[in-house]
Amino acid sequence: MLSCQKELFNLPDDTHYLNCAYMSPMLKSVAHVGNVAIHGKDDPTTIKPDDFFQNTKRLREAFATLIGVEDERQCAIVPSVSYGLANVAKNLKGRKGDNIVLAGEQFPSNVYAWMALAEEHQLELRLVEPPVEFKDRGQKWNERILDQMDEYTCLVSTGHVHWADGTLFDLKAIRKRSREVDALMVIDGTQSIGALPFDVADIQPDAVVVAGYKWLMGPYALGVAYYGPRLADGQPIENNWMNRLNSENFGGLVNYQTAYQDGAIRYEMGESANFILSPMLTHAIEQVQAWGPQNIQQYCADLSLPFIPQLQAMGFQIEQDTSRAHHLFGLRLPEHASMDVIQEALRERKIFVSVRGNSIRVAPHLYNDRKDFEALVDCFGKVMR
Ligand SMILES: Cc1ncc(COP(=O)(O)O)c(C=O)c1O
Repeated sequence: MLSCQKELFNLPDDTHYLNCAYMSPMLKSVAHVGNVAIHGKDDPTTIKPDDFFQNTKRLREAFATLIGVEDERQCAIVPSVSYGLANVAKNLKGRKGDNIVLAGEQFPSNVYAWMALAEEHQLELRLVEPPVEFKDRGQKWNERILDQMDEYTCLVSTGHVHWADGTLFDLKAIRKRSREVDALMVIDGTQSIGALPFDVADIQPDAVVVAGYKWLMGPYALGVAYYGPRLADGQPIENNWMNRLNSENFGGLVNYQTAYQDGAIRYEMGESANFILSPMLTHAIEQVQAWGPQNIQQYCADLSLPFIPQLQAMGFQIEQDTSRAHHLFGLRLPEHASMDVIQEALRERKIFVSVRGNSIRVAPHLYNDRKDFEALVDCFGKVMR
């Protein structure tokens, strides 16, 4: 079992940071890699043509290992989730009258991509909202998603967990149904991959996109994606030279190529060899892999579960344990409670969580310990009497 890893971070001692879903704190080791990388350009002669390609390969390898993909070339470096999804949107062969099924209340990057496409091709957007009734909410939400998929569904997109309350989506069932109706399956793994086990071989999705600055513990502005065989021959949203065949040969770059590099590399962002951010994200993913997503999830479960009954006794509604994640979960406020008063109390105690609508999102990681949850429960106890 993992122990608290706070000493690997630079978090201030007087704060209770329960907000990895917003942004992870920087690992000291990742900051070090970044600092060294900044000086890598002091003498540009040290950066060789091969470094452009080794740099990107290492990042793809780290991500491929984390998500159980054998060939790193099935992965691509992207700047953001919106970019990664735009590549899918560009290649979706939806026809007028087809529909796109989305779990409701997704993060906007996983909605706007499909909204724009729906308008362009006159597709129907089916946003599957969660049930209002709290009992068996997770299970019923999943059933609703499956029910909304039919022979006209061309794409379904969800997270592995809901980004605001941690509800688990049943990816296996969604994949099975998407196969039956011949729809592409896309996963926004931003709020789960790194902290919750996920295996591409197990789910076989068509695309997975992950922003790097949360549970992958990387810097902001760099992410990673996986594109499966059904997107193997697609058109990327931009045409970068590195993504073309034989671009390793700097002397022959003006022998323009129509062919792309193998696999999903065609979808990679321009200047993917970012000599500062790429090694930082690579190192961060390697650290996450060394800890193991399963162990991180277990740590968060062990840490948070003992406090759940107290939170429920105060009137918070929390999705049942089996239908939600432990690294990210929502506390829905009881009617009598004032969010403003609670937020003020949290600020005073330097407890950092996120407010999403009527819920408080709690997102622990390995730098948290019992004291953080004790402070949270104590703080609520004082303002909710
Ligand atoms: C589920 C989810 N997806 C994506 C993002 C980030 O999207 P983008 O990389 O397009 O800014 C976030 C940020 O909070 C998120 O929670």
